[in-house]
Amino acid sequence: MRVLLSGSGVSCALETAGAAGTTTFLEHFPVKAAETFKPADREEAELLAKLDPERLPSHVAIIMDGNGRWAERRHLPRIAGHRAGMKRVRDVIETCAELHVACLTLYAFSLENWRRPEAEVDFLMRLLREYLKRELPEIHKNNIRLLIIGRAEQLPANVQNDIAEAMRQTAHNTGMKLVVALNYGGRAELADAFNRMLDSVRENRLASFRADEQTISNHLYTAGLPDPDLLIRTSGEMRVSNFLLWQIAYAEIYVTETLWPDFSRARLLEALLEYQKRERRYGGLGAGPAGTAPAEGNRKRARSHIPSGHSVRG
Ligand code: FPP
Repeated sequence: MRVLLSGSGVSCALETAGAAGTTTFLEHFPVKAAETFKPADREEAELLAKLDPERLPSHVAIIMDGNGRWAERRHLPRIAGHRAGMKRVRDVIETCAELHVACLTLYAFSLENWRRPEAEVDFLMRLLREYLKRELPEIHKNNIRLLIIGRAEQLPANVQNDIAEAMRQTAHNTGMKLVVALNYGGRAELADAFNRMLDSVRENRLASFRADEQTISNHLYTAGLPDPDLLIRTSGEMRVSNFLLWQIAYAEIYVTETLWPDFSRARLLEALLEYQKRERRYGGLGAGPAGTAPAEGNRKRARSHIPSGHSVRG
């Protein structure tokens, strides 16, 4: 991974998107490299049996919401909700890796979250560091590669050091990509992308320049990753909250009333089952059920109708 530094922010440009891997049923459900998937209870087993391993999303993105409400309902301080939420982060990462989802993106801290009380922000930063310290060996053992998107250079120095070290340690892992959005905002990401394109135009003294969709994608923090197929939001709010604004153009959106600390493995399996019921149309008349890409012929025809520009990188 290349970390590109620009005046407006640190962005993480990813060199390649991960391959989804092999597709036989058993290969899709190993817990760890050598074990077979073991549902924890009957509910998980029943949900798993309904899931089609051939049509899982390549990229799942999650807005983890409802920690505060979970705590309030139990007359606990808000931070107790964040701590309970951290356990679910572990479950979801593990489950997605077991199911061979190629990429999982978690919205952990937004640019707007600085508006929270200082004590809560400090706690979230401490929790993140604690999480990395405790979970990194397991993440690494499971061949997961950690990537961070957002304006990382504005985070406290100790957090920056920890995430840089975690990314370095997992840089050569070839399994699931775990993308954590930290100090992230979708509009800020677009502004950073445009500014980087303008910088390149100036540096390369280009007399004329036009950006097409691919050029813009290539300058986002998520360059090289597939766009999310499924966006999950917990706690029932019908908002995208400035998350991956460009990338979710065709994502299936799944909103559940479940609060993040209650979002168990079974709830995730339910979200995946709901995704498999959707018909993805990509603006056409029915590209097929979720998990199948639009026909290549159609995509090529579509591309020929999209005006192209010059990539800044040539
Ligand atoms: C939203 O709940 C949640 C957050 C702003 C923080 C998410 C953090 C975690 C789940 C724990 C740590 C994460 C990682 C990746 C280690 P909220 O506080 O907005 O809930 P509310 O809407 O009910 O108030």
